[in-house]
Amino acid sequence: MEKTQYIPIIIESLIFGKNSDYSLYIKSGENYILYRSKALIFSQSDALRLKNNGVDNLYIKMEDKEKYDDDVLEHIETIIKSNDINFEEKAVKIYIYSKVYAEYVVTTGNLKDNQENVKKTIETTVEYLLMSELAFMNLLNLSSYDYNEVGHGMNVGIYSMALANRLGFSNKISLYEIGLSGLTHDVGKLKIPKELLLKNPLSQSEVYEIQKHPIYSKEILITNDVDNDNIINGVLEHHEASNGSGYPFGKMEENISTYGKILIIANRFDSLTRNRPYRIKLSVPDALNLMEQNSELYNAAFLKEFILLMSKKAVL
Ligand SMILES: [Fe+2]
Repeated sequence: MEKTQYIPIIIESLIFGKNSDYSLYIKSGENYILYRSKALIFSQSDALRLKNNGVDNLYIKMEDKEKYDDDVLEHIETIIKSNDINFEEKAVKIYIYSKVYAEYVVTTGNLKDNQENVKKTIETTVEYLLMSELAFMNLLNLSSYDYNEVGHGMNVGIYSMALANRLGFSNKISLYEIGLSGLTHDVGKLKIPKELLLKNPLSQSEVYEIQKHPIYSKEILITNDVDNDNIINGVLEHHEASNGSGYPFGKMEENISTYGKILIIANRFDSLTRNRPYRIKLSVPDALNLMEQNSELYNAAFLKEFILLMSKKAVL
């Protein structure tokens, strides 16, 4: 008999008070135990009880994934339009929903199977960002600054979209492309052994291997049928510095795409302000100062706008 496959879902992404069309499971050791059969209502107090018991994920059967995805799509659309949900609460919901798909894409490199949902969550984030200047701060206040590839991908996406918008990009399609490029920029690290990514110090050949990850990110996007040059150049050039000292190609500024110039700033800032295995995070003003001291790495106008954008957060 074929073994049943289960996939994790984030508890907050369930619609409270609604009886779902699928059963929910809890993982115990290697086994999946039925937690709630379909047609039974899942409430906010159920969610709290699970959290208090240290349960972060529920699971559904693989065969129910489509029903679950449909629920998420339907829910996210009503959230953004709803007059009953306040502005901050909308950010929380959008962030939680985005995380479901961001996690899947960043940890598996499989964009194809979730394309519609990833698209919808980034588009919703764009719509939210364009609603008010406060939107950006609301989303950032939710992000985790600990070492975590999913949070890093999401943040780089959010910073990149906000910076692009400040630079005059107001077209929703371009902002979506920048968001997707930011989310997937490091997905190529999946092709590099984990031990190598966590190793310190590294030999010169190991450094070169790790520096190939933007090329691997590009390859993964192409495998997923992404053929948009803007998105691909963004991931490929997120470590290319304006003075030619970056990698993998050491391109000079005039040969780096606009998305690449945006992504290097977003990526660098999030890396500096995030706890890493071998480094303690910097405060927002310290990270901005350091970037200013190394301003030859970045496009001058883009860096200036980013500092203005983030200075607002620093005083909050
Ligand atoms: Fe990277």
